Amino acid sequence: MPISSGFDIKRIIRPNILKLEPYRCARDDYSEGILLDANENSYGPVFQISISEVGAGCGQLKFESQADSRQLHRYPDPLGREVKQRILKMRPSIPGIENIFLGVGSDEVIDMLVRIICQPGKDAVMVTPPTYGMYKVVASINDVDVVKVPLIVEGGSFQLDVDAMIEAALGNPAIKIIWLCSPGNPTGTYLREEDIRRVLDSGFTGLVVVDEAYVDFVHTDKGESYAKLVSEYPGLFVIQTMSKSFGLAGIRLGVGIGSSELVGYLNNAKAPYSVSTLSLDVAKAALSDENVEKMRRVAASIVDQRDMYLIPELMRLPHVSRIIGGNDANFVLCRFVDSDGNISNKIAKDLYREMAENQGLVVRYRGSDYGCEGCLRITIGTAEENKAVVDTMRKLLSEIP
Ligand SMILES: Cc1ncc(COP(=O)(O)O)c(C=O)c1O
Repeated sequence: MPISSGFDIKRIIRPNILKLEPYRCARDDYSEGILLDANENSYGPVFQISISEVGAGCGQLKFESQADSRQLHRYPDPLGREVKQRILKMRPSIPGIENIFLGVGSDEVIDMLVRIICQPGKDAVMVTPPTYGMYKVVASINDVDVVKVPLIVEGGSFQLDVDAMIEAALGNPAIKIIWLCSPGNPTGTYLREEDIRRVLDSGFTGLVVVDEAYVDFVHTDKGESYAKLVSEYPGLFVIQTMSKSFGLAGIRLGVGIGSSELVGYLNNAKAPYSVSTLSLDVAKAALSDENVEKMRRVAASIVDQRDMYLIPELMRLPHVSRIIGGNDANFVLCRFVDSDGNISNKIAKDLYREMAENQGLVVRYRGSDYGCEGCLRITIGTAEENKAVVDTMRKLLSEIP
């Protein structure tokens, strides 16, 4: 039975949503096998959680973990204050808990920033391709323009083109947010402090956001979180996540660090109880001194696998020309060439498909990203997973003439 003869779904959805090109990932197509496509933490959560059902019939859950057990009929603390206290302890350069915002993954933090800052149909954001796809998707959802100032891709360095960024930012008053990603996805490059300071000191009056989803994989002698600059620059906002180094992508907890005024506006705009009790409890447990230490040890093992095993082994394979990018994250960007030495998207794509469809091994094709031609992005897995990737790739690449 038709609900209403005059009803047309297309007429009630915002036009930019109708045109939206949604974010897509390898997992849309492949979800089984050794999964090295999404930069998760193959080592698992940094501590063991067991949840057991008790009081059958009343549906109560007892949460057995280092987090305290909670009565789940209560709403969570809307501001997640205990978790913020522990984040403060882990990142002592953050001035106070009023400088921390918690979201449902950093993806929600990204979305909320655009929703509270950019006026649909009027404002714009700047991105520096190749970069994380959600900045553009969120802009499209909110009918916000995207100005692209590509990274310097020559030599695979993927650092900021600061002069071009400043020129574009100062020349276009519609730009309200500049999205930076450090270490970048898919570049793996940790951005230079002097470059970030130049952008912040340029006279740009919008917000500069540094997305640090992968910051715990950066060698400490190379750099640290730019949260240390937040007290100096009210126009800087740093985003982190529990999804990567802590191995807790499933709890959906993202962290924003910035001025107390901006955090206040974000808190005003968010759904009151957006982060669940279970997520907060798990995050609190994960952020104990002992588990932060564990996280650092696991991150160090991943970095070790990256630097001492995966990169050297990949470099030995036929048709691999080089590993590009900064290698400061839990993935590498591997470039393929044909037998004449020309960069080959075909080889990268065929390999990606063959591994996913017939070898149970999912990585991510990145050959259509600017500066990433001929590249696959491979998440660092466990030692066994990394060996499986290398062995499979060696076999398949050796068969190419
Ligand atoms: C750079 C970057 N930012 C944010 C995210 C989203 O992370 P979360 O799981 O916290 O939403 C990702 C996920 O891959 C990412 O690569």
